[in-house]
Amino acid sequence: MLIRNACLCLAGSLLALGALAASVNPYADHNGKLPPADYTGPLFRLSYNYPAGLPAPYMPWRAAIGNGAITTATAPAYTQALKDSIARDMATLLTDYEDWNAAQRGRYNDPWLGAQREPVHGMLVGIEKVDNTLFPKSGLSKPFTTYVLTYYNRTAAQTLGKIWSGNPNAPVLDGGATQYAEGSITVKLAFTTADPATWPAMEGALAWPMMMTANATTGHNDRPKLDKAYLMQVDIVVKDTRSAPQTGWVFTTLVYDKDTRPGSAGVWDQMVPLGAQWGNDPQANSALNPGAALQETWVNPNAPVYALETLGWGGRLSGPNDHALNDISVAGEGGRVLTRNAANSSCLSCHGAAQWNAANPKQGMASFFMPLAAPGEGAAANAGAPYMNSPAPGSVEWLRWFQNRAGNVPMDTGSIPGDYDLALTFRVLPAWHEAMTGKEHALRKLDAAGKAQK
Ligand code: HEC
Repeated sequence: MLIRNACLCLAGSLLALGALAASVNPYADHNGKLPPADYTGPLFRLSYNYPAGLPAPYMPWRAAIGNGAITTATAPAYTQALKDSIARDMATLLTDYEDWNAAQRGRYNDPWLGAQREPVHGMLVGIEKVDNTLFPKSGLSKPFTTYVLTYYNRTAAQTLGKIWSGNPNAPVLDGGATQYAEGSITVKLAFTTADPATWPAMEGALAWPMMMTANATTGHNDRPKLDKAYLMQVDIVVKDTRSAPQTGWVFTTLVYDKDTRPGSAGVWDQMVPLGAQWGNDPQANSALNPGAALQETWVNPNAPVYALETLGWGGRLSGPNDHALNDISVAGEGGRVLTRNAANSSCLSCHGAAQWNAANPKQGMASFFMPLAAPGEGAAANAGAPYMNSPAPGSVEWLRWFQNRAGNVPMDTGSIPGDYDLALTFRVLPAWHEAMTGKEHALRKLDAAGKAQK
């Protein structure tokens, strides 16, 4: 005991850093808070044997649109081809967990998140509390918590290997290591704690058991408890510079639709496209012209009502799991203007802020991922929680978040570009930094909606 205390007293010295790093296993499967004995299914196993040196994969989604640039007219076919390309694996993962072996199927996870993962499915808390006022048309009667799980395909996992496989305590971020190869696919599954009685939209949805530490629907918090969450959204994003020459990425998302009948792929058939996005439509100032047509977002008009309630700024793509609607405070001549549930983000807008400032790892991301007024600039706008201090919608400062950049161009000069991967810069690098320093990272004090957690 004494020896251990003496060691911790050296906090800040290299010796103490080494001791801390050694105490956290970067490849831990989960937090070890196991389910009770009545759960007899498999437990989550981290897939981290990242491959290297693979040839470019076959990309049927390109062929589906004639190998040209994606448009709002061809986006439905593209989204369908991308969905079909992962159908077999997803059907197994979702409904045949006993047979799921991620490593064998070439699906991989991020390191350093063991302490945040529950043991049944490896789920992470996405957003602790999504307010029911966001879903007035679909009758959500209580708030919910989201639980998320991300898998990278073989092509994408090569990037995880470049960053982490040398020495996981000393990630390689420079020299283009954070860039993804063409054909990289990342899938993110999002579950909600809102059960069908709380939210009719979830009638018949696939339920997964998991050890929950937060449940805004039941109000249960902290002590892990085995409970169910319902599959709401599946994001599929792909690096594809041919189809999306400006940003290099096509972001698509599927949402659960209770009114679609399951076919041979079961619940996978009930996951219908909400839409696709491959740019931020920087030419469309949706504040000056709210009806401005978008050329780089396609939204499925037949998507279920609940999923259409939370689209992003000016109708740019965002899903019910993504929190692109926030309470904002804007400084104006006559004082501050407060707006509840203002659309201030979108898939590519938020993910475009993925970057890492290696010179200031305590802060990590030089700009927040949603429009945030610079300190000083908006003291008059600072209304405090739950309001975010925001530049005026449509202003030059606001539009910084709605540009089209290639993934190897950082949002802020001097930062390492994260190639649209927020898992890396908002979740994994902060967790790594915490393991190295023993101190909570600034980004971890915010929830995924950018609000400070209690
Ligand atoms: C307001 C911010 C925000 C918006 C809008 C948003 N995301 Fe994300 N996304 C995040 C954050 C933060 C993470 C990392 C932490 C996590 O996994 O919860 C993430 C993670 C992901 C991941 C896992 C891998 C990665 O690249 O980080 C995928 C895939 C993804 N999002 C797809 C989408 C899609 C598709 C949309 C739009 C339908 C979207 N996101 C909208 C914030 C956002």
